[in-house]
Amino acid sequence: MKTIIEPFKIKTVEPIKFTTIEERERILQEAGYNPFLIRAEDVLIDLLTDSGTSAMSAKQWAGMMEGDESYAGARSFFRFEKIARELTGFKYIIPVHQGRAAEKILFTLVGGPGKYIPNNTHFDTTRANVEYSGATAVDLPIPIGKDPTAVADFKGNMDTDALVRFIKEKGEENIPLIMITVTNNAGGGQPVSMENIKQTKATASKYNIPLFLDACRFAENAFFIKKKEKGYQNKSIKEIAQEMFSYADGCTFSGKKDALVNMGGFLGLNNDDLAGKARNILVVTEGFPTYGGLAGRDLEAMAQGLEEVLDEHYLTYRIRSVEYFGEKLVQAGVPIVEPPGGHAIYLDAKRFTPHIPAHEFPGQSIVCELYRIGGIRSVEIGSVMFGKKDKETEKFVPASMELVRLAIPRRVYTQSHIDYVIECVIEVYKNRSQLRGYRIISEPPMLRHFTARFAPL
Ligand code: F0G
Repeated sequence: MKTIIEPFKIKTVEPIKFTTIEERERILQEAGYNPFLIRAEDVLIDLLTDSGTSAMSAKQWAGMMEGDESYAGARSFFRFEKIARELTGFKYIIPVHQGRAAEKILFTLVGGPGKYIPNNTHFDTTRANVEYSGATAVDLPIPIGKDPTAVADFKGNMDTDALVRFIKEKGEENIPLIMITVTNNAGGGQPVSMENIKQTKATASKYNIPLFLDACRFAENAFFIKKKEKGYQNKSIKEIAQEMFSYADGCTFSGKKDALVNMGGFLGLNNDDLAGKARNILVVTEGFPTYGGLAGRDLEAMAQGLEEVLDEHYLTYRIRSVEYFGEKLVQAGVPIVEPPGGHAIYLDAKRFTPHIPAHEFPGQSIVCELYRIGGIRSVEIGSVMFGKKDKETEKFVPASMELVRLAIPRRVYTQSHIDYVIECVIEVYKNRSQLRGYRIISEPPMLRHFTARFAPL
């Protein structure tokens, strides 16, 4: 088979800045060893996130000029609504400025003390919005989803047996909705099978609980279904995505991932009463229902992106480029979450640096070293992000996995950028015994990974 190439040519370029190791050591120190506090211009290859970092197409940029900036009833909204509705089938498409704004509205309405939200795995902002409402966020991934070494096709799946037990234990009246995150970001970017979505829907229906998708990476998930699940090989990505959404009663969506835009999102709903209430909150916090926190041009770009992301040449390249990255690391013996997911490679810090205990943040240590060695920015997804102190015993409770995510922005980097990253990761791995842990010197009450400061031990 021939090399799978980037299915685009480059029309606009943006230079990246080279720094020396000495400069980066100083930058790291000034940033409190937290990659979120490093200036982007001091980063050579930025793999902090695939969110809002996509390169837009010429057609999306053209759409920016076409944007209708009317306060009410803008043409751009109706184009966006039509495309999002055709894809998802939801009666109400409520635009918001990004995914977490949809989460905030949704959980303000259905959350609250005494309520429980089960999810295959909540991402950080979803969990934070559930908890901020007073409700409890519960992760119920299948057991192999938590084992980075298990090679299986749909490791993002919900544990449907655990879900049934959970509903019986807490009572269906205390579970306002069940959520499935596609792909499972905090669980390694692993996809969820159609079969699993169907089964979860069957369970949800049995207890009269609505099912919602956290649909940020729906197209990447649909591509995995096409490639790996029986019966989908001859269906289009759009048909597969439509089927995924057909089992849901609503969705939260961050357009910053699979809508290939820098800003945008929506809340999809079928329930008339809920949609009415959501729009009331929207008007107060985001904007009028036909723009909801976005400019008309953002809606144009998102509409166009939702069509482009369904292109199989694009998805073939996208998924292959992540797989290529993973393959090379595995060949060099670097421990990663296998198989590679849709949008990122996750280094398994527990096996990468077994000499650093969880409370000394092994992932953070790798993140800092990757920046120091190569100017590469990545992010810890482990005990910095999800570890906590037990409320009663004050004892440290580690995250279930210690990962370092190298997220690949869409259509931004070429294969040689990735080859460079591979070389740097392998270098860090070879010198891993030199790595030391970190301690936190200051942290905010919520989502501490964004602003905490660290010191090396
Ligand atoms: N849900 C998932 C699964 C996500 O990955 C994100 C964002 C959100 C919801 C929130 O969307 O950023 O538009 O408000 N994830 C980014 C990341 C930030 O780096 O993975 P948002």
